Amino acid sequence: MVKNPEKVFMNMNFENLKVERLALGITIVSIDRPKALNALNTETLTELRKCFREIATDKTRVLIFTGTGEKAFIAGADILEMKDKSNSEGVQFAKLGHEVGKLLEIMPKPTIAAVNGYALGGGTEMACACDFIWASDNAVFGQPEVSIGVMPGFGGTFRLARYVGYPKAKELIFSGKKIDSQEAKRLGLAAQVFSAGEFRQKVLEGAQEIAKNSSTAVTAAKKAMVEFSEHVGLNSKIDGEAQLFGSLFESKDQVEGMEAFVGKRKPQFQGLEERL
Ligand code: CAA
Repeated sequence: MVKNPEKVFMNMNFENLKVERLALGITIVSIDRPKALNALNTETLTELRKCFREIATDKTRVLIFTGTGEKAFIAGADILEMKDKSNSEGVQFAKLGHEVGKLLEIMPKPTIAAVNGYALGGGTEMACACDFIWASDNAVFGQPEVSIGVMPGFGGTFRLARYVGYPKAKELIFSGKKIDSQEAKRLGLAAQVFSAGEFRQKVLEGAQEIAKNSSTAVTAAKKAMVEFSEHVGLNSKIDGEAQLFGSLFESKDQVEGMEAFVGKRKPQFQGLEERL
């Protein structure tokens, strides 16, 4: 057991992230925008990119990625920021999200998504970029992008299928339906579910089990699993998704979908447009 698992060392200062260094080389990175349900804006994604680049080469042996507050892991990309984006800004935003997802996916050490509440849109996508997902029993997953006039843009079109298979991923993405933690476990999306009350402790205990093993061996196993199988073709998948995600910006349905969300009303979609 870690002698002092709650001891916190803060050696990275971010506006939107909290970084905790624990014994055994366990690092917890929490998105800290609870008022926006930890939604991912450009500033937060830029901080995550910097943070994960550092963690990739520091003494961290296991990374736990989570969100602060009671309600959310990540409620998606920040709709308030995305609302007025142009086509090319949409592509750039997706590319930034992809850089963060790729850093998690190829990080030479295990990454655990500790999903404590809503993991919607970019939230499910960032969780899927981690090596596996442990969920609290109040977790809610989903890809609701099509309900606000866009599509998954941070890896959901290819990573979700790795967990649940392509037909189920298509069903979830086309319907925008949300699923609870038990359904996520049944589908293989969440590897484990723990009660919210003991979530942090259970996640830490699980991370300690991994951290006690040979980090050289764990890293080699991850490299074999990611680079020689899952990672094949990653760059073309990322590029294709980013271009399509961006192509939806400035469309009537994207503008309407996001204005409706911000205005707290139901969207009136017009459907397929000529340029699509
Ligand atoms: N972006 C920005 N702000 C968000 C947000 C998001 N994705 N999700 C929630 N918030 C904000 C709300 O606007 C609200 O702010 P105010 O208090 O200032 O009004 C605050 O967080 C609390 O949210 P709610 O009042 O809506 O809380 P709720 O408990 O009633 O509902 C929820 C929770 C079901 C998660 C709901 O907030 C929701 O549906 N959020 C949007 C989820 C979503 O569509 N995510 C996908 C985004 S698109 C995407 O991620 C694209 C991509 O793939 C890259």
